[in-house]
Amino acid sequence: MSDARRLAILGCGTMGEAIVGGLLRAGLFRSDELIATARRPEAAEALRGRQGVEVTLDNLAACRAATTVLLTFKPQRIAKVLHQPGMREALAGKLVISIAAGVTLTQLTEWLPDSAVIRAMPNTPCLIDEGMTVLARGPRVGDAEVAAATRLFETVGRCIEVEDKLMDAVTGLGGSGPAFVYVMIEAMADGGVMMGLPRAVALQIAAQVFQGAARMVLQTSRHPAALKDQVTTPAGCTIAGVLTMEDGRIRSVLARTIQEATRVASELGKDAAADR
Ligand SMILES: NC(=O)c1ccc[n+]([C@@H]2O[C@H](COP(=O)([O-])OP(=O)(O)OC[C@H]3O[C@@H](n4cnc5c(N)ncnc54)[C@H](OP(=O)(O)O)[C@@H]3O)[C@@H](O)[C@H]2O)c1
Repeated sequence: MSDARRLAILGCGTMGEAIVGGLLRAGLFRSDELIATARRPEAAEALRGRQGVEVTLDNLAACRAATTVLLTFKPQRIAKVLHQPGMREALAGKLVISIAAGVTLTQLTEWLPDSAVIRAMPNTPCLIDEGMTVLARGPRVGDAEVAAATRLFETVGRCIEVEDKLMDAVTGLGGSGPAFVYVMIEAMADGGVMMGLPRAVALQIAAQVFQGAARMVLQTSRHPAALKDQVTTPAGCTIAGVLTMEDGRIRSVLARTIQEATRVASELGKDAAADR
């Protein structure tokens, strides 16, 4: 990105604002290098007050003013905005990054044939800088653009690149994954409550157990099975619990959960195309 760079965040709602916050906190962009858009004047005013960035209701003007554009609309909105007269020209030659779930690179490059398009799938832990974002590059995108997009999302967590064909699986695992983990945390806390722990204590223990175990996997790079073996004493309580999980077929239930979420994710973009 050049010195005269400006990043527009179109449809700056929950995810858009999380990213704006991350960029400002990390110092990757100054507030005068960001321009956000909103649909309602009161939302624009509130966003301006919270983040101190320029906010407009005019998506086209924001795109014209920007060197890079981040699309953070809901999937149903994106086709309509990109088909606004003058939009294709305003985005020609620019890097456009979409985070809309289910909107494919094929759709985006068809709608914006003169832009360098990246599809990104972040998740809600971006709100606390613990997100997981996965990128796929379109045909006109080089390593420099991918590096710029990666730096952007790394302000709110981790970021990696995969091939476009893997993005539905990424949506099912990384995008939907936090909800599956919330269910598991709640269920384990229920078990603690059943055995006499106060709810708040059980929830705190369960959530910290997930955080600690996840960090063990990421920081030690050891296989989860090796870490599990390390804590299962012969004839102990942990192996007793593990076998109970296996009796309940928890591995296939979790793996099939991702399979089903991926299948549904592959259907999402069809609505975006139909809603033009
Ligand atoms: N949340 C997640 O877990 C997650 C994870 C990965 C990807 N995503 C993707 O991120 C995107 C945003 O999700 P979100 O949860 O942040 O949604 P959101 O909070 O509803 O943000 C979208 C924003 O766009 C605004 N908007 C709608 N039409 C507009 C227009 N014509 N011009 C300017 N602004 C407009 C909306 O304003 P109004 O509210 O006034 O309509 C809203 O503030 C979605 O495409 C989603 O698929 C979300």
